[in-house]
Amino acid sequence: MKLMLLGCPGAGKGTQAQYIIDAFNIPQISTGEMLRNAIQNKTALGEKVKLIMDKGELVPDDIIIDLVKARISEPDCLNGFILDGFPRTLKQANALEQQGINLDLVIEIAVPDQVIIERMSGRLIHPASGRVFHKVYNPPKEANTDDITGEPLIQRSDDNEETVRQRLSIYHEQTEPLVTFYQHKSTSDINSIFKKIDGTQTVAEIQKQIHDLILYIKKEKIA
Ligand code: AP5
Repeated sequence: MKLMLLGCPGAGKGTQAQYIIDAFNIPQISTGEMLRNAIQNKTALGEKVKLIMDKGELVPDDIIIDLVKARISEPDCLNGFILDGFPRTLKQANALEQQGINLDLVIEIAVPDQVIIERMSGRLIHPASGRVFHKVYNPPKEANTDDITGEPLIQRSDDNEETVRQRLSIYHEQTEPLVTFYQHKSTSDINSIFKKIDGTQTVAEIQKQIHDLILYIKKEKIA
């Protein structure tokens, strides 16, 4: 199962990806997390992208495409993967197709900008695993503490309001055209399904819809 979660910053892609990994054992490819790991480990890539990410801008396509190509060729991706945060431009989407990779399911999680701006100030993450929480909507069992490791949670450096507004504006300009791209694809290719989900519902309600969609696709592919 090759699926992609599409949506603006803070739409809930990482939150739902975590659920899909646990429920269906499908690995997640989060380009944002790969880049944050590179920054944390002070690699050459990390040095190159830190400033770009702190400003809320997109990392150049060629860097991202190479990163994803390498990750997809790893053995755990043989039977499928969840793309979270990739592709983010038409160039990235075309590069995926040129690799011969056709997505079974593209899910857009749609959330209005105003909701995102309010939501992002409450996000907390566990840097080592990428697990995501929210102070109000998805709180950890113990305040500021990761549920599994007990380690402290932090706020992302690009979650301040100014950067979030910049990321939203880049999303509308460069990533939103992918909604039309995948909508068209799903009307011309019966093997590629596009679904839009209202991302203002609760985390559990969205999980249930995604769960049902994945079961449906699995059944269709097997039948
Ligand atoms: P990336 O890490 O991909 O960030 P993003 O797309 O901006 O998405 P986020 O991780 O911010 O949000 P999310 O949708 O995963 O939401 P989450 O589940 O955390 O990218 C970061 C940067 O890396 C980019 O700006 C760019 O510089 C670079 N980059 C990455 N990929 C790139 C690419 N392909 N090309 C170029 N550059 C790239 O949820 C957010 C919060 O809301 C959490 O606190 C969560 O608990 C809460 N929440 C989730 N769902 C709900 C709900 N239903 N109701 C209430 N609260 C909810």
